[in-house]
Amino acid sequence: MTERYFAYKGNVLMVEDVALDAIAEQFGTPLYVYSRAAFTDHLSQYVTTAEKYRTANLQSLTCYSVKSNSNIAILNLLAEQGAGFDIVSGGELSRVIAAGGDPHKVIYSGVGKTPSEIRLSLEYDILCFNVESLSELKRINRIAGEMGKKARISFRVNPDVDAKTHPYISTGLKKNKFGIPFEEVLSTYAEADALENVEVIGIDCHIGSQLLDDAPLLEALDKVINLVNQLEEKGIKLSHIDIGGGIGITYADEQPVAVPDYLSRVFARIAEWQKDYCPDRQITVMFEPGRSISGNAGILLGRLQYLKTNSGKHFAVVDAGMNDLMRPSLYEAYHGVKPVIKRSSPAKAYEIVGPICESGDWLARDRELAVEEGDLLAFMSAGAYGMSMASNYNTRGRPAEVLVDGQEVHLIRRRETPEDIFALETLVP
Ligand code: LLP
Repeated sequence: MTERYFAYKGNVLMVEDVALDAIAEQFGTPLYVYSRAAFTDHLSQYVTTAEKYRTANLQSLTCYSVKSNSNIAILNLLAEQGAGFDIVSGGELSRVIAAGGDPHKVIYSGVGKTPSEIRLSLEYDILCFNVESLSELKRINRIAGEMGKKARISFRVNPDVDAKTHPYISTGLKKNKFGIPFEEVLSTYAEADALENVEVIGIDCHIGSQLLDDAPLLEALDKVINLVNQLEEKGIKLSHIDIGGGIGITYADEQPVAVPDYLSRVFARIAEWQKDYCPDRQITVMFEPGRSISGNAGILLGRLQYLKTNSGKHFAVVDAGMNDLMRPSLYEAYHGVKPVIKRSSPAKAYEIVGPICESGDWLARDRELAVEEGDLLAFMSAGAYGMSMASNYNTRGRPAEVLVDGQEVHLIRRRETPEDIFALETLVP
């Protein structure tokens, strides 16, 4: 995915049909700005490709990964387009419900589900728990029993495949905390199969994020299919295969695999396997994409406050910091930086930093820019893991968020005030 919904018209950077300087004037900065068309276009790449391969026995469900961008207006938009949701907390489930999402299309991943989160999920009768350990399985079985329910489960297997991405967002290696170790998968399924209050319906894996090549994903898929066959021989018949999320986007000049190409390869493999092994059984293929839907659907707008030079190095201090967009400080991630209004004056190399009292508070390094104090800068490709990872560090209110639809601009989250931030705190009597 690229950022095609954020493009220059003359010297002015636009989002869809609206100039970004006008939006900044109206709503202030720092500000997250999203394109509705980008979200719907990115989701429809999953949905329409899956549709092409659909047969009576081969179904699919795209479960948008809520953690990548969880604003309820966005969840609502995607729910209306038929998306399911991949959640990792009770809080995310509450968001999906508030957004009008269908809990029967919710899958719940994560290594640390608490009893209250499991209870909430069972109350809403979510589609499936992606179980990550035997202890979790036993807890789900016990709670479902207490509630007189049967919990649908899948195991997240760790296929020991190298996703070849940043170590912090690589999850499918033996050494990572995620999933059931490959060699223990069969025995774990057998244990689950014997339990009273769970129904074993699927298998899933998620090997990492920002993958540019789909080879590791297809390698993981082959390993998962192999497991499904072995389970079948033991009399455990699964009805869904969930291959997780992970497809990357263009931040600088990366060329990630196109979503339709990747999905076509997944469906081709599954269809071929199904023909040989289980032609009469309905199989649902599931995906958990986050970044490839939200990443290039949003930017962060900041206003340049001060230009300063320390020992010959040029700094541009903006009003957005690591609390608003933490990816550069946390992963040394690259986000493109574009002036909202282009100047023709000569450019200089800047380190772009925020106002936070930490040397790690930088947003971009060594960028050639022609800028003056007061200019607006757009931090590109910030729709995924931007606002959802923002914090109140330094008692900074998190940015407002707007969603642009053609010529219309909708405020979908107002700016936090200091009072919002300390509203939950109390003085000692
Ligand atoms: N499914 C599971 C179980 C996940 O853990 C994740 C992301 C996804 C799906 C969605 O992956 P995606 O399609 O977005 O790659 N904060 C990091 C990314 C962390 C990803 C965590 N898991 C970043 O800013 O790059």
